[in-house]
Amino acid sequence: MPNQDKPIQHVSKLLGTSSRRGFIQTATAAGAGMLILPSGTLFGQNAPSNKLNIALIGAFGRGRAHHGAISSENVVALCDVDEEHLAIAAKKFPKAKHYVDWRKCLEQKDLDAVVCCTTDHTHAFIATWAMNRGLHVYCEKPLANTVEEARMVRATYLKNKDKIATQVGTQRHADENFNRVRELIHDGAVGELKEAHAWGNRQLRRPGYLPAEGTPPKNLHYDLWLGPSPHHPYNPDYFSGKPGANCLQWNMYWDFGTGQIGDMGSHTMDLAWNAIDADLPISAAGEGEDFNPEVTPVELATRFEFPANDWRPAIHVHWWQGGPMPESPAPYVDLSNIGHGAMFIGDRGTLVCDFNSRLLIPNGANADMTYYQPREEDQVIPPLGGFQQEWIDACKGDLKTSCDFDYAGTLNEMMVLGLVAYRVGKQIDYDGEKGEVTNSAEGQDLLGREYREGWTLDG
Ligand SMILES: NC(=O)c1ccc[n+]([C@@H]2O[C@H](COP(=O)([O-])OP(=O)(O)OC[C@H]3O[C@@H](n4cnc5c(N)ncnc54)[C@H](O)[C@@H]3O)[C@@H](O)[C@H]2O)c1
Repeated sequence: MPNQDKPIQHVSKLLGTSSRRGFIQTATAAGAGMLILPSGTLFGQNAPSNKLNIALIGAFGRGRAHHGAISSENVVALCDVDEEHLAIAAKKFPKAKHYVDWRKCLEQKDLDAVVCCTTDHTHAFIATWAMNRGLHVYCEKPLANTVEEARMVRATYLKNKDKIATQVGTQRHADENFNRVRELIHDGAVGELKEAHAWGNRQLRRPGYLPAEGTPPKNLHYDLWLGPSPHHPYNPDYFSGKPGANCLQWNMYWDFGTGQIGDMGSHTMDLAWNAIDADLPISAAGEGEDFNPEVTPVELATRFEFPANDWRPAIHVHWWQGGPMPESPAPYVDLSNIGHGAMFIGDRGTLVCDFNSRLLIPNGANADMTYYQPREEDQVIPPLGGFQQEWIDACKGDLKTSCDFDYAGTLNEMMVLGLVAYRVGKQIDYDGEKGEVTNSAEGQDLLGREYREGWTLDG
């Protein structure tokens, strides 16, 4: 077999890209037709030289859900603050180097891409640092815990978007119902859109941070687990959840997560967000249970105001969680039977949906639906296919994904702005261009959060 690296390196020079990342992407995007290769050269999606060198940061728990998808690539680095978790992942990826500190991991020279499955309070850091090093990033939801973090990640992505592919881990987005809902709303099945709602019924009640209990086991680098967040004493309960669901042990505490806003809210608001083509809101309001300085609210209702765009008028978007719910569109529809759902209200009807199904209710007994023209079969939005694969293909190709850090970062910014409005206790006006709360100094202060000394978001 001829040496496969030589001709490709040659082409990368011709095209002015000298890095490995550059030529993986350029060569694939340009297509094999542009390359003069020795006969018999293997140059396809899965040619050895065309594989991504991936670092998996957060190697177990949710990280395990990515093991299959990334095994088609070269997993060259594994990073986890828990050495036992590293050892489990190493069985699947025996050739990878090991790290406990993601900052060291990102120094590895041959990386092309990062899959980040760590705690929420580290996502914006790891994503930003990785992009600053020119790496493609797949980051589990939520992308960020504060407005400032969401804006930093999005700005860093936008600066680099001609070189890198990003995806936020809202894999339900690949469910075809997302496309059907978008088509119905865009094609006017509810008439002119007035409001969109999304909600979730999960209730995880905690009184406050856990008290000190015992000492961290030898395999766990607890200080690195805390990372940029203020110190809280070790308690084994933060680590007692099932693999892939351990996030429920820590994501409701302010210093580690954003509660259901970032958890199921990332998925469920995506169902609405995908259909409404919104940028940032011009105002936000929120109310819920009494503020607890240690724990995010279980019960919460937020409302965001969006200006008109080129196909719909100004709308309100609502996020409801932990009990409060939007009003039912008809007495025979019990929305509380839908644990995680969305609803679109228009001047001609209402669409209610969950991740996999939808229900259209035209207004009034005589609504004949003549105002709505269903799409021809060849006009429907094609299936997205594998969600993780979409990102892998984008890294090697056109860099386009459905939940990139612009789309998902904007959604994320809106959701965490709702938490700011809830804390301020009144409607806040928001300048999305500048990222400023214009009518509340307290609101402005709450756009960021406190980090421990030595940790930099934009590193
Ligand atoms: N997309 C989905 O459907 C989905 C489902 C579950 C979880 N998640 C997300 O995945 C993330 C992880 O959730 P989980 O339940 O697996 O949590 P977890 O507490 O089990 O953490 C995941 C892994 O990351 C490691 N880790 C934690 N902090 C780290 C750090 N700073 N550096 C390196 N490794 C670190 C842990 O030891 C563990 O192996 C969360 O952000 C959660 O929101 C997404």
